[in-house]
Formats: sequence, C-alpha cells, structure tokens
Amino acid sequence: QKLLLAYSGGLDTSVILKWLISKGYEVTAFIADVGQDEDFKQAKAKALAIGAKEVIIADCKEEFVSDYIIPALQTGALYENRYLLGTSLARPLIAKKMADYALTHNIKYLAHGATGKGNDQIRFELVFLQFIPDVTIIAPWKEAEFLEKFTGRTDLLNYAKDNNIPVTSTLAKPYSIDENLMHTSYEAGILEDPELTPPDDMYKKTLSPMEAPDEMLTLTIEFNKGIPLKVTDHNNKQTIEHNLLAIFSYLNEVGGKNAIGRIDIVESRFVGMKSRGIYETPGGTILHKAYQDLETMVLDREVILLRAINAPKIGQLIYNGFWFSPEMQMLMQANQVSQKSINGSVKLGLYKGNVIILGRNSPNSLYDHDIASMDKLGNYDQTDAKGFIKLNALRLKPQKFIN
Ligand code: ARG
Ligand code: SIN
Repeated sequence: QKLLLAYSGGLDTSVILKWLISKGYEVTAFIADVGQDEDFKQAKAKALAIGAKEVIIADCKEEFVSDYIIPALQTGALYENRYLLGTSLARPLIAKKMADYALTHNIKYLAHGATGKGNDQIRFELVFLQFIPDVTIIAPWKEAEFLEKFTGRTDLLNYAKDNNIPVTSTLAKPYSIDENLMHTSYEAGILEDPELTPPDDMYKKTLSPMEAPDEMLTLTIEFNKGIPLKVTDHNNKQTIEHNLLAIFSYLNEVGGKNAIGRIDIVESRFVGMKSRGIYETPGGTILHKAYQDLETMVLDREVILLRAINAPKIGQLIYNGFWFSPEMQMLMQANQVSQKSINGSVKLGLYKGNVIILGRNSPNSLYDHDIASMDKLGNYDQTDAKGFIKLNALRLKPQKFIN
C-alpha cells in the first residue's frame, strides 16, 4: 500500500519510517519546510537511505506567513492569554499540503509521528479526515504493536542503531523541540517539572534579556489593510519591504537579538491534561503588539470589544485543530472587515525583552485632536455631557447597592 508520512528527519519519524516499511507500506516521506532550522538535503538523503520510496520537500514558508501567521495575528488570538500558537498554526498547513499531495497521487494511507497524548495528533488528523474522504490514518504511537516495541527513547535509539539509522546530536537534548518560522517550542523531558527553570542555552531564536544590547532598537512598521508592508530599522538605517516572508524573518532576527517573545507556561491540552511549554516567538510578538496598538486608534470601540471577545475563541479553535472549520471561517471573515482600516504605521522600540510603543499614525485614525483636547472646545458641547450621565444614572438610582 502507498502511504504518505509526515517526516521531520528526526529520530521518531525516522524510526516510524523504517517500521512502516517493515510492515509492507510503500512510503513517501513528506517534509514540510515551515522555516525550521534543518538541513533538508540531509533529511531527504536520510529518508531515502532508510528506504522511503520517495521524498517530497515542500517549501511552505511564504504560505505559512501570508495565509496562517498574519491572519492569526490580525485577530489578536492567543491561547490562554499568552501563547501565540506557533505550532498550532503550522500543523493544519502541513496536514493540508499532505492531503493535497495524497489526493493527487491517489494515496489513501496517511501517517504522522505525533503521540496519542498531545494536540498535534488532533491537528493532523482532523485535516486528513476533512479533506481525504476515504483516508486511513496510521499513527504508530497509537498502535499497540508499536507501543509494545518502543516504550521509551532507549528503544528508539537501539532500533535506530540496529537499522543503521543515523542519529543526530539534537538527541542529546533532554527536551523536545518543535520549530518553525513563527516560533520554537520546548516541552517534555526535564521541562515536565513545571518548577524547573530551563537552561539558558536551550533557546534557539532569542537571546536572554541579560545578553541583549544596552541600546534600544527603534523600528517603524507600516501596514496596509492589516498586512505589514514595510519595516524601517532606524538604528541600522535599513528598510525591508514588500515581501512578507522577508519582513517577518527580519522581525524574528531583530526580535531575537533583543530577547523578545519568550514565554514559559502551563497550558491546557485539548485532550484534557495540563502540560508545560516554553516558546519563543520574536517576530510574532512584535507584530502582535503593533497590531494591538494601531487597532486602538483606527477601530471603533464596539469593534474592538467584539474582536476582544472573539480572540480567545479563535485561539482555542486554532489550538484545538479547527483551522478549517466553518466556525473558524466565519470568525476570520468577520475579522477581515476590521482589517480594512488597519493602515498606517507604529513606531516601537525593542529593549531587553520589551516591545515599547513609541508612537503611531494612520490615515484611518479616529482620534480627533480638537474633540479630545482639554484646551479646545472642538465640535463637542460639554453641556451635553450632563444629560448623558443623568440618563445613564436613571436605572442605577432605584438599585439598592448591597455590600
Ligand atoms: N504545546 C504546543 C502546542 O500544542 C506545542 C506543541 C509542540 N509539538 C511538538 N511536537 N513538540 O501547540
Ligand atoms: C506530541 O504529543 O506529539 C507532541 C505534543 C503535542 O502534540 O501537544
């Protein structure tokens, strides 16, 4: 049987690849380039050496930024108030690319290396099931036979040794890493103790605030209909424009140097358990703050409130794997209406882990200096405020306030 495997080049999926082949599948390994720090040529050679029939490397970076990262940031969505959803956003993209490939190549068996305890299995499988009507999903970590054979890391390592699967140095790391353009995540292993402070040399995308420069880096980010158009770096006298991927990568770079976007959280997995995760999302954090700022000046207060109500729900849908669901589509389309007025620019400073707002301007600004000013009358009659407050008090007066 022809089978398509989500392949990373790491130990787990390499062992899974070999195991699937030993079960008689004809395996195509699918490597999605979502911006992880990986030698793709080497990963491909490795998969072929293990016995993959074919290896597909799909460059998904542009699409990841334009169709997943930016639309998500435009909603202000966070999971449990802090997590910018870097892994959660990449999974539906990878799964959709695999589904498309499977459909055009008449492959009915799809496999992934996510465990039965996590969120990733759900994100992969919901997309496979939604887009491939007659799919059969093989998730070795949920197969009794596989679980009996591989109880832990040692078994995987031994199997790799017995089957000439090269093992890379990342294995020495006592935690699990998932990396893409948006973030690097760390969990499991020593991090399972929520009290343990991770070693500083763990972080791949960001410096610690203690190592960051003593000088603030000043940037201006320009937006057009909610899309970052241009970044001006005032310190290095540089401008990056037009290409979203280049802009996002630049924000990652300068954000990383200035220690932006590290979080350490205990989060609620969809399957029910709590887990501890550490994330670094430099570029995403800068943009999140910039959107948040520009929004306050160009959007009506009722629109701001509705967006704020929807954001946690959108965050939950993304986290739980419902990126392609009808409810998600509805919320995203509603949000797009608000993005029409996200034009203009935000000036901000990056300094030792902080994103500091320095100013903003927009052709769609709703800020009216004449009305707001304490020094001018503007088109505002202060005597109107008397009746406004009186009528608001009307329903409060009969209330007995019981303390
Ligand atoms: N806990 C995060 C999430 O669910 C990150 C998961 C990381 N995945 C991984 N295979 N290491 O989005
Ligand atoms: C996994 O279980 O495969 C990784 C963690 C997660 O999906 O949340």
